[in-house]
Amino acid sequence: MKVDSDVPHRIVFLYRCSLNDAMTSTCIIGAGYVGLTYAAGLASKNLKVNLVDVNTATIACINKGTCPIDEPGLEKALKDGVKRGLIHGHAILDLVFAESDVFFVCVGTYCDDAGNINLAQVRSVAQAIRDCFKMHPDAGYKVICVKSTVICGTTDSVLLPVIEESGMKAGKDFGVAMSPEFLKEGSALDDILNPDKIVVGGIDQRSIDAVKNVLKAFLKDSDQHKLIETDVRTAELIKYAQNSFLATKISFINEMARFAELFGVNISMVAKAMGMDSRISPKFLNAGPGFGGSCFPKDVKALYSAGKKAGLDPLLLKAVLDVNERQKRHVLELLQQHRQVKGLAVAVLGLAFKANTGDTRESVCRAVIPGLLALGASRVKVHDPSAFAREEVKKDFPPDERLTYHDTIAEAIKGSGACIILTEWDEYKRLKFSEFTTMAGNPCIVDSRRILDRKAFEKSKVQLVILGESESRDFKP
Ligand code: NAD
Ligand code: UGA
Repeated sequence: MKVDSDVPHRIVFLYRCSLNDAMTSTCIIGAGYVGLTYAAGLASKNLKVNLVDVNTATIACINKGTCPIDEPGLEKALKDGVKRGLIHGHAILDLVFAESDVFFVCVGTYCDDAGNINLAQVRSVAQAIRDCFKMHPDAGYKVICVKSTVICGTTDSVLLPVIEESGMKAGKDFGVAMSPEFLKEGSALDDILNPDKIVVGGIDQRSIDAVKNVLKAFLKDSDQHKLIETDVRTAELIKYAQNSFLATKISFINEMARFAELFGVNISMVAKAMGMDSRISPKFLNAGPGFGGSCFPKDVKALYSAGKKAGLDPLLLKAVLDVNERQKRHVLELLQQHRQVKGLAVAVLGLAFKANTGDTRESVCRAVIPGLLALGASRVKVHDPSAFAREEVKKDFPPDERLTYHDTIAEAIKGSGACIILTEWDEYKRLKFSEFTTMAGNPCIVDSRRILDRKAFEKSKVQLVILGESESRDFKP
């Protein structure tokens, strides 16, 4: 009897202990690419994190230590964090509100069709925090830090007033900060653990210090100069300015690549020489099929449309976007310059918007696949090394007798009269001309990523068309 009555006691005691162990001051809201990577990064620095997401399937995955996204090193770091009791996933913010001090808002900020930023997820987080404050008026001082990419004014004039509807006062009962995120997909965890800089904007020094106190885990003592303190609006604009600048660099080199094709020049040599000037740097000077992904297109569009709405005419941003759209069309034009697409079977290699990710959002394949079908290609045979990427694209372009998805490169290439390379996967870089011998007729390869070696194809019957180079001497000034 005595032993039995002890059992519930011991369970309650153990449960309390484990809750105490799980006590954390950091809470991440939104467990997507950014939130999940942040949680894994903080856990790798031995910090405890509560991760909240409205998607219950995502939370179930996380608590099992399974990574819901395809990102190098993330699954291992996440599993490790969960196993060590440092990462706890929750579907309801209220459960962890009182025990958390600093909240990082990492929800999505998508664009509508007109390019305007959609702040619905940020608003819903602000409302959830407001409701938590109402339910826990004695929860103490909290700091809310926006990590999502948001247009200037979102943090202080959208999020902050909604939280104040709880009766709490910003600067007194809670702090507000904005710390933009600069990670890249494909190296997300590494970017977080080795940042070039950390920007923290706040409505006051107390908010900035609270966020710094968490994020300093990612900086060595000798790297403290990499921390930039500012106000929230400056932090918001830094993010857009940086993404717009990188997108500008890409559109610039893509425009130069068009000149290279016209003048009979190789763009790589031009980019290499330009990049050797330390004022320019060689990074983001790879000509290709245009920038894609969930960030550059939406962020440049959002900044452009915010400026336009306010009466500015952001001419440069408009040109960056226009050049990018034109470059996507140019990939098909390159094939059309050399082959009649009507009746041709075409292999498309690469669905992810860049290598080492399964993400296909705004990938050039979404323009090329329907483009080929509209031009009358007899078959479009698609391959990507990422099964995740193949499944994502299938949802929007379902397979049929003309459009087929293949697990191997060999299957996609076999019998095709042309092949277009859209993503710079290592698997494609390693392709040798002998692997294209199963193609039909007089085959043509369009290499939009400039990854194949022209010399290796010289003696083959395959015609290799590389974006950003030609041997044409037709142009005369
Ligand atoms: P994502 O779509 O992968 O993840 C967002 C997550 O937020 C989803 O899991 C969603 O279920 C969750 N969510 C939505 N509403 C919620 C709510 N009310 N409460 C809790 N969770 C909610 O987005 P992401 O790629 O991680 O990007 C997040 C933000 O960071 C965006 O603003 C993006 O522009 C920016 N950013 C992204 C990257 C990147 O490489 N993906 C890099 C830097 C910055
Ligand atoms: C980009 C930025 O690099 C990150 O710093 C930023 O945090 C992120 O956006 C964001 O704000 O979400 P990401 O979209 O993951 O990261 O990928 P990038 O490596 O920047 O590539 C973007 C696109 O540009 C890809 O389609 C890529 O193929 C293309 N690109 C990149 C080029 O065509 N040429 C280049 O030289 C570089």
